[in-house]
Amino acid sequence: MTAATDKEAPKLPETDFTETPWLDPQAAPFIQIKSLSKEFDDFTAVDSISLDIYQGELFTILGGSGCGKSTLLRMLAGFENPSAGQIIIDGVDISDLPAYDRPVNMMFQSYAVFPHMTVAQNIAYGLKKDRLPNAEINSRVQEMLELVQLQDLAARKPKQLSGGQCQRVALARALIKRPKVLLLDEPLAALDKKLREQTQFELINLQHKLGTTFIVVTHDQEEAMTLSSRVAVMDAGRFVQIGTPLEVYEFPLNRFVADFFGTINLFDATVTSSVQVDSCTHTIEAALDKTGTLVKADCSHQLNQGDIISIGVRPEKLSISQKKPRGKNLTITNGIVEDLAYYGNRSIYRVRSHSGRMIQVSAQNFQRTKELVLEWDDQVYLSWDSSCSVVLPE
Ligand SMILES: Nc1ncnc2c1ncn2[C@@H]1O[C@H](COP(=O)(O)OP(=O)(O)OP(=O)(O)O)[C@@H](O)[C@H]1O
Ligand SMILES: [Mg+2]
Repeated sequence: MTAATDKEAPKLPETDFTETPWLDPQAAPFIQIKSLSKEFDDFTAVDSISLDIYQGELFTILGGSGCGKSTLLRMLAGFENPSAGQIIIDGVDISDLPAYDRPVNMMFQSYAVFPHMTVAQNIAYGLKKDRLPNAEINSRVQEMLELVQLQDLAARKPKQLSGGQCQRVALARALIKRPKVLLLDEPLAALDKKLREQTQFELINLQHKLGTTFIVVTHDQEEAMTLSSRVAVMDAGRFVQIGTPLEVYEFPLNRFVADFFGTINLFDATVTSSVQVDSCTHTIEAALDKTGTLVKADCSHQLNQGDIISIGVRPEKLSISQKKPRGKNLTITNGIVEDLAYYGNRSIYRVRSHSGRMIQVSAQNFQRTKELVLEWDDQVYLSWDSSCSVVLPE
């Protein structure tokens, strides 16, 4: 052994990007959407969208009704011709390929299963159309039935199934052709709340097992939060923010995203001072309009004295108490409980502050009590730590 090898520096552990391929500078995107637009006459439904999605992601597109979600998905599937732009999947430009030649399958907003066919026949449909040998069809249907746990219901007709079971038939039918990408348009919209929550977990498990790239469209922000590796928030044909659910929830880029993705209390404020802490952090102090309450907050961009901003605080970041709280970095205000909703594990309070505005607080019910800890018309203090203030320039 030479002296040189003896002195070799110990290898640093390599960063594992398996769960976060979008952070890996070496990773090649699996789907590339480049400046994609769709115009209907003089109306722009999708406005020059660019996006990279990585293999095995469960990517969600979230936005209000009419913002262009389905149109975008339909262009990926090949059911709508783009007015401009390019779609590349696995290195191949599919922009001009017809729907049946694309390595994608789409589950529509209203998933229609054939009522006259059994579960097994519904699932087999795509392969039958492709005239695959019967033995192969049977074995792949069996595989799918197991995957979506419908083995015992294979002979039933759709009307003999629950909503969730029907949903799973539609999923199996979309997956049996082993698409590289599965597009799902509001896949859980037809299910009731409890079933939707359960099916969300099933969908995540299924996607994990298969490793297929899923693009899911939804207007339900809780669904987007639960399902996604990353989420794109869409408004008027454009993406307003793309990030992990945590990034988008805790670090929204503007008022629209903050308000759309979860609930937030937004206060108009004016910057009174700004100090640069390091190359990417500034600590600002701002006065809330109406009350003049001073709020400290960290933000990533330079702001100047006199700038008009919004300060956002999520309801669960606020503490509610009858005693005045103490703490170094707390912002404290007070008010009267005007509305109260008891959910068992937590309660939602709507507190009218002395400035007249309503502030929403979500509090865990830690204690086991026979009566509510706080009641309507109680005088309360609300407080939050400066690290919980979100600075929103728009
Ligand atoms: N064929 C069409 N001709 C003209 N306008 C259309 C057409 N299809 C969609 N649009 C319009 O494009 C916009 C985007 O429609 P899209 O179906 O993509 O919305 P969405 O985000 O999926 O909404 P939802 O959540 O209600 O399903 C809407 O304003 C819609 O009216
Ligand atoms: Mg739609």
